[in-house]
Amino acid sequence: MNKSTIKTIAGIAMAGALTLSMAACSGGSGDAAAGSDGELITVGFVAVGPEGGWRTANEQNIQDSFSTENGFELKYAPATNGDQNSQITAFTSFIDEGVDAILLSATEATGWESVLERAQEAEIPVILLDRGIEPNDEALYTSHIAPDNVGISSAAAEWANGQFADGGNYVVLEGPPGLSVVNDRNMGWDESIDPKLTKLESQSANWSTEEAKSVFETILKSNSNDVQLVFAQNDEMGLGAALAVEEAGLKPGTDVKIITIDGTKAALEALAAGRLSFVAEYNPLFGDVAVDVVKSAVAGESVEKNIVVESVTFDSPEAATTALPDRKY
Ligand code: AHR
Repeated sequence: MNKSTIKTIAGIAMAGALTLSMAACSGGSGDAAAGSDGELITVGFVAVGPEGGWRTANEQNIQDSFSTENGFELKYAPATNGDQNSQITAFTSFIDEGVDAILLSATEATGWESVLERAQEAEIPVILLDRGIEPNDEALYTSHIAPDNVGISSAAAEWANGQFADGGNYVVLEGPPGLSVVNDRNMGWDESIDPKLTKLESQSANWSTEEAKSVFETILKSNSNDVQLVFAQNDEMGLGAALAVEEAGLKPGTDVKIITIDGTKAALEALAAGRLSFVAEYNPLFGDVAVDVVKSAVAGESVEKNIVVESVTFDSPEAATTALPDRKY
């Protein structure tokens, strides 16, 4: 019987990193966060928009946290079809409007320098949510709030090492190339996976179930089904890989073990049913933390540069079944 465990990934030691568990987070609800003159704090949220279960949970949590009751006026600006130019346009308009703070979940990692410099000149604090920027010039933003992608994917690799002591073949299904979260998930996995496990292929399936099913069907065929493990960098792609495994007449969880990242309800239900084998949460519910950071930044107080949000991992059907009733996304 698998020892069913739920482990916490609290973040690797990062200079100035501050790990906040949701429980430890004070404020963010109840006490008014009105600006010093009693006015609402205006916040521009340059968001990704519809992308999958994780993104929906994260962006809803941010909008719920930056409520009028909490002393905020949140201006939500989702990208148009994931297009960075639409984000840059929204970012620029928020600067021109003179908002008090800007939240940024970037659709691309590069190309942000000029608007970030403009926000600095306008003395508008910018808080990165989830996605980082490349090059990571910390002088260009006030704070970056995210779970620890490197630690999460390293924990996934350590689990895989335990499952395949005699080695095996694996495939990585990545998010869109170049994203900071994709680079960090690759880094954490690559630095921890045992060389006894052989990487056959690494391909992007752009966070999509349909694309992951198609990509992995092709990989299974071209490798005569001799693949024992999939590291899918989000739940939707892992569920797509499971469909491809079933299409090939194989049993996910038995013939092919599938690891995913995000921890959405759909993934935990699939883990409980044995279709996925390991699910690492990438905790999207950090709106309260972001509220505290914006309040401090707007008040001119010092703010931690890197804030790591705690996440947990699930390694068995029993762990998923236990967790499901209390899951919030
Ligand atoms: O940046 C976080 C990633 O973006 C999530 O893991 C994925 O589901 C989302 O689309």
